[in-house]
Amino acid sequence: MSTRSTEVRLAARPHGWPTAETFEFAETEIPDPGPGQVLVRNLLMSVDPYMRGRMDDRESYVAPFEVGKALEGGAVGEVVASGDERIKPGTVVLHGLGWRDYALLDARHVNPVDPSVAPLGAYLGVLGMPGLTAYAGLFETAEFKPGDVVFVSSAAGAVGQVVGQLAKLKGAGRVIGSAGSAAKVAYLTDELGFDAGFDYHDGPVRDLLGAAAPDGIDVYFDNVGGEHLEAAIGAMRVHGRITICGMISVYNATAPTPAPRNLPMMISKRLTMRGMLVRDHAKLQGRFLAEVAPLLADGSLRNRETVHEGLAQAPEAFLAMLRGDGVGKHLIRIAS
Ligand SMILES: NC(=O)c1ccc[n+]([C@@H]2O[C@H](COP(=O)([O-])OP(=O)(O)OC[C@H]3O[C@@H](n4cnc5c(N)ncnc54)[C@H](OP(=O)(O)O)[C@@H]3O)[C@@H](O)[C@H]2O)c1
Repeated sequence: MSTRSTEVRLAARPHGWPTAETFEFAETEIPDPGPGQVLVRNLLMSVDPYMRGRMDDRESYVAPFEVGKALEGGAVGEVVASGDERIKPGTVVLHGLGWRDYALLDARHVNPVDPSVAPLGAYLGVLGMPGLTAYAGLFETAEFKPGDVVFVSSAAGAVGQVVGQLAKLKGAGRVIGSAGSAAKVAYLTDELGFDAGFDYHDGPVRDLLGAAAPDGIDVYFDNVGGEHLEAAIGAMRVHGRITICGMISVYNATAPTPAPRNLPMMISKRLTMRGMLVRDHAKLQGRFLAEVAPLLADGSLRNRETVHEGLAQAPEAFLAMLRGDGVGKHLIRIAS
């Protein structure tokens, strides 16, 4: 027996922005699980900015996607057949083989999740990799302290919406977010409790940030890089801390991008700037879930998702996420 499945493959490496031609769909036959394997029917998958990096053929912390092979990424699905007695059919699991209807995996590479604790999408967002990124990047990397003035970019995105809310819940003096539309800024200030926000299209980021944080900032959580980073260095108070989490403004660049021009301020202000990778913070997973799951359950932490319907929409969903068309975590519902 085998199971017919559709998968999305990397058709060609993009130069600059990915396009519809970057992706191709293929039909495959998935064999039944052997000993120690499980067959998962995917229900939801995630599209994330790091996938853009894996489309390039260059050395990084994770291997590039291969042309002609299926893409990979976070997904939640239901085990439909199992060759491992510890994982029964019907178990809902989190795993790394999205971009396909069915995934055949080593049982050691799936993590059961509890659908009664949170909606399944949360395991790919607020309670998943992006949530842990926010938690680790704010509390470990930036060494957040109550009273800090915190600025986060791409603040209405999967990571950003958690960063700003956690800072607020843990006693930040002031939380400021930037995002790509007036509606997103309204989401930050009216729904998430940010003290201020701005649409970075409305003028130089330096001026917009200066108006939103007239007394400066202690922590910058960088999801964007480029002009945002330069503006944040300019607005930093003495002994400020910067978490370099992402630099989405340069992911589709076709030529080297300029560095912040005001780096000498790192000296006069005695700033700390640290890059972080969520995979280095797995040890925080237990503490993160114990702290953040109850906040989500009791409504103190809000969460928005943009859900795209059907695997056929996955390439467009990925592009929409990169462009900023949609609020919060982008997910694709593959089946229900
Ligand atoms: N270091 C790690 O371990 C780690 C882990 C997860 C994520 N990350 C990084 O964290 C960042 C956020 O990830 P996420 O999953 O939460 O994605 P996200 O913020 O939900 O989605 C990306 C958003 O970036 C914004 N954006 C795109 N181009 C931009 C530009 N030129 N200038 C300003 N904003 C732009 C868009 O929203 P707007 O409408 O606001 O423009 C877009 O929706 C990414 O840089 C990602 O690579 C790092």
